[in-house]
Amino acid sequence: MDILKKIQDHREYEEELKWEGTFAEYLELLRERPYLAQSAHSRVYNMVKSAGVEEAHDHKRYKFFDDDIYGLDEAMEKLVEEYFHPAARRLDVRKRILLLMGPVSGGKSTLVNLLKRGLEEYTHTDEGAVFAIKGCPMHEDPLHLIPSHLRKDFQDEYGIRVEGSLSPLNTMRVETEYGGRIEDVLVERIFFSEDKRTGIGTFSPSDPKSQDIADLTGSIDFSTIAQFGSESDPRAYRFDGELNKANRGMMEFQEMLKCDEKFLWHLLSLTQEGNFKAGRFALISADELIVAHTNEAEYRSFIANKKNEALHSRMIVMPVPYNLKVSQEERIYEKMIRESDIRDVHIAPHTLRVAAMFTILTRLKESKKASIDVLKKMRLYDGEILEGFSDVDVEELKKEHGDEGMSGIDPRYVINRISSTIIKKELTSINALDVLRSLKDGLGSHASISSEDKERYLDFISLARKEYDEIAKKEVQKAFVYSYEESAVTLMDNYLDNVEAYCNKAKLRDPLTGEELNPDERLMRSIEEQIGVSENAKKAFREEILIRISAYARKGKKFDYQSHERLREAIQKKLFADLKDVVKITTSTKTPDEQQLKKINEVVATLVDEHGYNSSSANELLKYVGSLLNR
Ligand SMILES: Nc1ncnc2c1ncn2[C@@H]1O[C@H](COP(=O)(O)OP(=O)(O)O)[C@@H](O)[C@H]1O
Ligand SMILES: [Mg+2]
Repeated sequence: MDILKKIQDHREYEEELKWEGTFAEYLELLRERPYLAQSAHSRVYNMVKSAGVEEAHDHKRYKFFDDDIYGLDEAMEKLVEEYFHPAARRLDVRKRILLLMGPVSGGKSTLVNLLKRGLEEYTHTDEGAVFAIKGCPMHEDPLHLIPSHLRKDFQDEYGIRVEGSLSPLNTMRVETEYGGRIEDVLVERIFFSEDKRTGIGTFSPSDPKSQDIADLTGSIDFSTIAQFGSESDPRAYRFDGELNKANRGMMEFQEMLKCDEKFLWHLLSLTQEGNFKAGRFALISADELIVAHTNEAEYRSFIANKKNEALHSRMIVMPVPYNLKVSQEERIYEKMIRESDIRDVHIAPHTLRVAAMFTILTRLKESKKASIDVLKKMRLYDGEILEGFSDVDVEELKKEHGDEGMSGIDPRYVINRISSTIIKKELTSINALDVLRSLKDGLGSHASISSEDKERYLDFISLARKEYDEIAKKEVQKAFVYSYEESAVTLMDNYLDNVEAYCNKAKLRDPLTGEELNPDERLMRSIEEQIGVSENAKKAFREEILIRISAYARKGKKFDYQSHERLREAIQKKLFADLKDVVKITTSTKTPDEQQLKKINEVVATLVDEHGYNSSSANELLKYVGSLLNR
């Protein structure tokens, strides 16, 4: 019932937003809210800006893209600053087609969809509201009604500049329906919707022989010619091409460069003059953002062709490269998996991260700096802090290559490999090793990988594998330490007893034999050395701990091994070091004894409860680490 209620609420909400009035009434609205008359480009820019902008380190991050586009902050900043913003201010770039150029599956379509969905929503807000001549198939801007000789006066009075002339259809309607009284022409608020073909259009080329320019600019409605007498009567024309429908909003031109030239020439006029030719009419003014997308190879061959020169200068090319950050790539996979039919399969922790490492490595270009190998570069790009490198170094690295991120492995390949492995082997869970293997096996049949690249990529598979080995070892040790919580406490108590005796120049008593013992110097040092306490500093360190203990005691608080940051670190490290052998033996014995079995079960339980494994992936991990430690 909840969803039905929501549907009803939404309908009521839409009903409330509706507005209809005469042109005269619309002008009253404009007096208070002149921004309602903004251009399509300006609306897009304001929509992006209204989601919020974060400024840091000379960069602006536009939050509008946050939920859908990961790791492309800089490309999005460029897009907004170099296209949307100047276009919104009616600068010349507005008249150019926005051509998104980037490698396959790099998020171009995702970006365009985000803009479309964003506009649909934004036109429901106060700031993004759009008004149009009622009953016009192109949702024409009501301000076109103002005759050109009065536009200067209008601008003086309202501060709004009017561009574009009234369409043939509305010119005729003003005469026939309103007797020439433009102030009576009905105006309504419209809401963009791709489904309803309002303000958002999509054109994708099909077979050039059968595709008709009508798909773009509309066509004559032959059934009505008899009624209206002539083909040049605008009422006998259907303004239902994508360019018509997208007026006031945006049109996506898919695969633009694959398109027949005659389609492109229409765009040329539209972008240059803000109008296009349809049927036998005077030019039709349109105000819309045209977005196309292409890959680099297609683009290169397009500009190499002299015939395309005129068009070339009418486009503004914005790169949409691959993401180059491991953690963002992981998010991309998580999103794609959530939207896929493998979302219920258990994916062992670190699996996607390791796959992402491989993918990012294939996208990076080698640095000229000798001190930076590709793994370091990968870490620095992902925001890790590495000793000896600053933010400035990272900025410099990014500037070394202009076209980084334009090639390499695409996210779809990774997801396809993961799902096909899962489906083929009927797996219910998958781990990093399965995925690396599957990525490797797929390289041979990947359409666009040269044999040279393949060699490089195989190296990256082994690099990613080595990274995984380290991650896996740490993970298991951590799980052992956790189940060794008691050992930590015991070790600590033992250490403190010795420290106390040492500071008080006293002896310890062996709990079993009752024998008197000197403080165990070797034990104390083996712990202190873990955190670099020198021989000279040990006395001060031990005294400091005793002071801390008595301070705790005075306040009636219990001192435990968590109470002293450095001591805790030392204890953990010591346990880790001692553990190595335990882990090695426990994880690799084929026939564990009762004690070992108990330990293994504890560790598996920890991995499941605390680290996101299920019992089968946890057991696999243990087995793998066991084999690693015995190499
Ligand atoms: N930077 C990115 N951020 C978020 N998702 C991405 C990114 N790059 C690729 N994707 C995902 O990869 C898939 C392919 O992207 P798509 O937009 O169709 O690419 P393109 O149109 O460039 O070929 C989509 O599921 C998309 O969500
Ligand atoms: Mg696409």
